[in-house]
Amino acid sequence: MLEDETMELTISSTRDLLHRGGTILGTSRTNPYKTEDGVGPTLDTLARKRIDALIAIGGEDTLGVAAKLGGEGVSVVGVPKTIDNDLSATDVTFGFDTAVQVATDAIDRLHTTAESHDRVMVCEVMGRHAGWIALHSGLAGGADVILIPEVPFDVDEVCARITHRHRGGEAFSIVVVAEGAVPREGTMATQSGELDEFGHVRLGGIGTELAPEIQSRTGFDTRVTILGHVLRGGTPTAFDRILATRFGLEAIDAVHEGDFATMVALHGVDIVRVPIDDAVRELKTVPPELMESASVFFG
Ligand code: F6P
Repeated sequence: MLEDETMELTISSTRDLLHRGGTILGTSRTNPYKTEDGVGPTLDTLARKRIDALIAIGGEDTLGVAAKLGGEGVSVVGVPKTIDNDLSATDVTFGFDTAVQVATDAIDRLHTTAESHDRVMVCEVMGRHAGWIALHSGLAGGADVILIPEVPFDVDEVCARITHRHRGGEAFSIVVVAEGAVPREGTMATQSGELDEFGHVRLGGIGTELAPEIQSRTGFDTRVTILGHVLRGGTPTAFDRILATRFGLEAIDAVHEGDFATMVALHGVDIVRVPIDDAVRELKTVPPELMESASVFFG
């Protein structure tokens, strides 16, 4: 929209999309409100192409821009798509299930070396400022320690848990750390990253900082694997394909009914529509009680 680069989506151009991840449109992390000419060119393109409605598919950034465009009079319907699962007003976003499955498979594979080489394996997963991917993949993969942004960690406590486990006879440990996890103040030095167009700090690398700390404080051989963009690629799970299909059908119905400034959402087993503003007002993070109940498996 920003550069007036458009393509017609027809039945044949969208055929066989079901098993593909990502986007065929070539859209990327760009904030039209942050460009030199502001949002004007975007609004011009929509008017020139006589676009009746804009269906925005994405996470908090994309839908945040969509909500703003709605405020400028554009007819928008949002579809929640992000691996981070951090959008309010929907139980799940599509992409999340796939990312959790990929991370779980990776953790299963890391077990092999952890067990054969008596190692601590640190596995870093994406998820930005929400610990959903780390918590779900860590639980599914049987991690011994899960570190999420919502609960700042104390590296000494992490090491104590690992040491306690090894003294109890285990020879390896798996630590799943969310890229946005942060040490409790004053417990471990970390580096801060650059900001992207939406003002988010570019994350990634906490695992690299954590692994040597664990090794030096416990004496156990420790390695790190950063899954990064691997979580965002490849074929989607059946759950995500069905969710995306159901969201798509509902979004088209919303357009035909003129029900704008809404986002389609999953509530329980039902697809519903919610005000798009409700989805982007605040991040949906892991509630402390969920982490608390999961912690029974740690260490
Ligand atoms: O929001 C999805 C996400 O994959 C986050 O989990 C991650 O922090 C970010 O995008 C990475 O973005 P980029 O590829 O622009 O660095």
